Amino acid sequence: MKKIYERHNIPQNNTMLQEDVNFIIKNLNELPITQKELEKRNGNIWFIMGEYYFYLGKEINKLAAQCIDNGYSQMNEDWYDHRLHLLTDQAWSPFWTMSADHVMRKIPSDGKFLNLCAGDCFYDYHYYSKQASEVWCIDRNQTSNYIANRVHKKENMKIILSDIFNYQYPEKYFDTICIRGAIEHFNDKQMEDIINIVKHALKDNGWFVGDTPKATHDCVHHIKEFENEEELKQFMLKYFRIVETNSFKCGRDTLFWACQTFI
Ligand SMILES: C[S@@+](CC[C@H](N)C(=O)[O-])C[C@H]1O[C@@H](n2cnc3c(N)ncnc32)[C@H](O)[C@@H]1O
Repeated sequence: MKKIYERHNIPQNNTMLQEDVNFIIKNLNELPITQKELEKRNGNIWFIMGEYYFYLGKEINKLAAQCIDNGYSQMNEDWYDHRLHLLTDQAWSPFWTMSADHVMRKIPSDGKFLNLCAGDCFYDYHYYSKQASEVWCIDRNQTSNYIANRVHKKENMKIILSDIFNYQYPEKYFDTICIRGAIEHFNDKQMEDIINIVKHALKDNGWFVGDTPKATHDCVHHIKEFENEEELKQFMLKYFRIVETNSFKCGRDTLFWACQTFI
């Protein structure tokens, strides 16, 4: 990265580049900030530099998003690169933060957490690993595994490259098991197999949580979609005593569940 930083004149620590400061001071009218705003902040150089780098970063992020998007659209992968949410307004949608919020509420602090079909481990890195003591992420996709290891890895995260059906899970080990944006990728028999994995690996008072898009029947990767919240609830009630569901239209119609205590 050092050569890349040098090529673009990007400071690697918190020190401002004097050349940048001089350039910006000479070209203040180029920054999309009003003179009034600048006066209000007494022309504070940190504020001015922050805004300058913010707008620069926004343009570069847009470029990164376009390249990543072009790359994946050629590959027809069945997982999503969640870094796009951070890179471009176009990929900013409330449903991805709601998904994280929903799962977070069911992770006890310092609990052990398993994410089935974790994809790029974006959620695990930014959210779940900040609440749980251990986060286990399992997915069979090599590209998402590579990205997860490269940009979303932390000491308390275990990133496993495997088919979820071919892995030996520890017994009654996890406080929370999640499968988000993925249960719709499986048929009826496989869904039962997932429930059996949860039955084996979840502690007695643990939570099984997740979300799934309400049926649209327009995604080639989706095998079994739930038509509505009631259908999802009835499915979970076959296995659990406590079943909480809700649904939300936020960019897309999403169905959420949180279940506890096996029948
Ligand atoms: C739409 S992505 C969701 C990923 C992640 N949960 C997220 O929120 O971004 C579906 C994921 O399921 C994974 N997957 C599908 N079948 C699988 C299997 N049998 N074993 C492991 N992973 C599987 C795919 O590799 C993909 O990463």
